[in-house]
Amino acid sequence: MQKVAVIGSGYVGLVTAACLAELGNRVICVDNDKKKIVSLKKGIMPIYEPGLEEMVLRNKKAKRLNFIFSIKEATEKSQIIFICVGTPSRSDGSADLSAVEKVARAIAGAMKEYKVIVEKSTVPAETGEKIKRTIEMSNSRKVAFDVVSNPEFIREGQALTDAMHPDRIIIGVASKTAEEIMRKLYGPLKTPIIACNIETAEIIKHACNSFLATKISFINAIASICERVGADVEKVAEAMGLDKRIGRSFLNAGAGYGGSCFPKDVDAFIHLAHVKGYEFELLKAVRRINDEQKKVLFKKIEEALWIIKDKTIGILGLSFKPDTDDIRNSVAMDIAKMLISAGARLKAYDPKAMPKASAELKGVKFCNDPYEAARKANCLLIMTEWDEFKRLDLEKIKKLLSHPVIVDGRNIFGPAKMKNMGFIYKCIGRG
Ligand code: UDX
Repeated sequence: MQKVAVIGSGYVGLVTAACLAELGNRVICVDNDKKKIVSLKKGIMPIYEPGLEEMVLRNKKAKRLNFIFSIKEATEKSQIIFICVGTPSRSDGSADLSAVEKVARAIAGAMKEYKVIVEKSTVPAETGEKIKRTIEMSNSRKVAFDVVSNPEFIREGQALTDAMHPDRIIIGVASKTAEEIMRKLYGPLKTPIIACNIETAEIIKHACNSFLATKISFINAIASICERVGADVEKVAEAMGLDKRIGRSFLNAGAGYGGSCFPKDVDAFIHLAHVKGYEFELLKAVRRINDEQKKVLFKKIEEALWIIKDKTIGILGLSFKPDTDDIRNSVAMDIAKMLISAGARLKAYDPKAMPKASAELKGVKFCNDPYEAARKANCLLIMTEWDEFKRLDLEKIKKLLSHPVIVDGRNIFGPAKMKNMGFIYKCIGRG
């Protein structure tokens, strides 16, 4: 059992805290948002993530997981302190690290004995070094400490599985003592551990997310060519994926990537490379293709409806991907806003994201189910591949729509089947 503090109870922090408690550690989770802490103390989750609530409640009950406001108290009571605060993008693409710096100073001020301070927020390379310097400057008692970079690879919607069964753990560290402490912490996961220096760990995180974003933009570029020559991108991805050197995952053509990570991380890596004197042209193209993918989709809607103004469009899916209520950088939200600007009347349905989306989308009718969104609409637009949508009663949908038009931004139905059913069906990269 180790004594752990997790500063920042957002997505990464909360999942990290719950999983470390589940492994038998005593974990204190901190946030400066008092409302959030009060809710968490009552067992109310600030986000929707399958299984998280149960895991938090279980560990709270077992007194392994606690929520408090004070970084000072959490630091005093713990040996390992995870920094999991937000690192939003600034307008130039660089990451705003002011919250990380503030937390580092607060930890330094409260340290009375050796601590391992772990950077887990997604941060640009060299942040570990900056955290170390910040702590040194505020560490008036000259207490010994080590900084570790331990990047997180959890995906929203499957965060608990990803955190409890990771492909690997990265420990970027400059001291054997800290390495041993971290190895002991993660030992129960029985997963390969890559120990390296802090800078390498930071670049591993940049490289992984950028590579995955590259796979998505690559397949979306292939999809555009497929449409021009009459090929089927789904078959291309299937065949490419069977090549073990390539792999099938992250080769789903569609509306492009969104979410709180990929867009921000790609921007941050391009920016970091630029500052270091390297123009990352490959990644700039990845970003450009992803931005253009929205226009590709919008054009398909225009092709289907000709004039968008005053048309009623049912939109299924608002979250940036299935199994989450997260709408940050959601392509679905962007397309919805583009359609509203073009004068469309929107009827929207999402299994989880409507409470968050309704604050941002004005004048949209939010529906109780997909069928209500389809009723009397000129077109049904699929933006997020929730399982619920894959199981739709398409005959019923056809009867409800005023015109049998479906634009599928996530390729969840096949063109042949849809054509046979009498739909005008537009999807991505399929002939
Ligand atoms: C990502 C990384 O996968 C994770 O390792 C990191 O810790 C955080 O960022 P997440 O943002 O939760 O996780 O979602 P992910 O499942 O990776 O999907 C990101 C975006 O890419 C979504 O908008 C998704 O719809 C899109 N995507 C994904 C595709 O368009 N095609 C694909 O084949 C895969």
